[in-house]
Amino acid sequence: MKISQTAIVIALAFLASPAHGESVKALLKAKDCMVCHDVKKDRIGPSFRHIAMSFAGFQNGRLMLINIIHTGTGPDAGEMPYHWGSTRMPPEAVRVPVDDVEAAQMVDYILSLK
Ligand code: HEC
Repeated sequence: MKISQTAIVIALAFLASPAHGESVKALLKAKDCMVCHDVKKDRIGPSFRHIAMSFAGFQNGRLMLINIIHTGTGPDAGEMPYHWGSTRMPPEAVRVPVDDVEAAQMVDYILSLK
């Protein structure tokens, strides 16, 4: 009992902490995000730092980004018309799937970069 409680507390601390930059980076890599994104440099997709700066002013920025990670961008994604260039972010159906906890971790990390 004690051991499993400790394990849960550790797991929750891990999930709740935006400070685990290294493990989130590994996650971003495992989910193929880094194929198109870089932390500092705009590539096929905008850099994560660029995204952080652009969304810092949005009140719902965190939720919007979590949603976009699932839906991708563009007219079919039902998202705001806002976009970075001529390339869309593809929807989750054609990428490695990401669950809500993972998407939230990714967004907290991205938003911490500004
Ligand atoms: C095939 C290339 C590709 C992959 C893979 C990809 N993205 Fe993107 N992403 C893009 C492009 C392109 C944009 C800019 C979209 C636009 O301008 O409409 C973007 C935009 C974003 C945005 C900002 C959305 C906005 O509207 O400003 C976030 C956040 C993001 N990506 C996160 C991720 C995460 C997290 C992953 C991995 C789960 C990922 N992306 C995988 C290409 C990709």
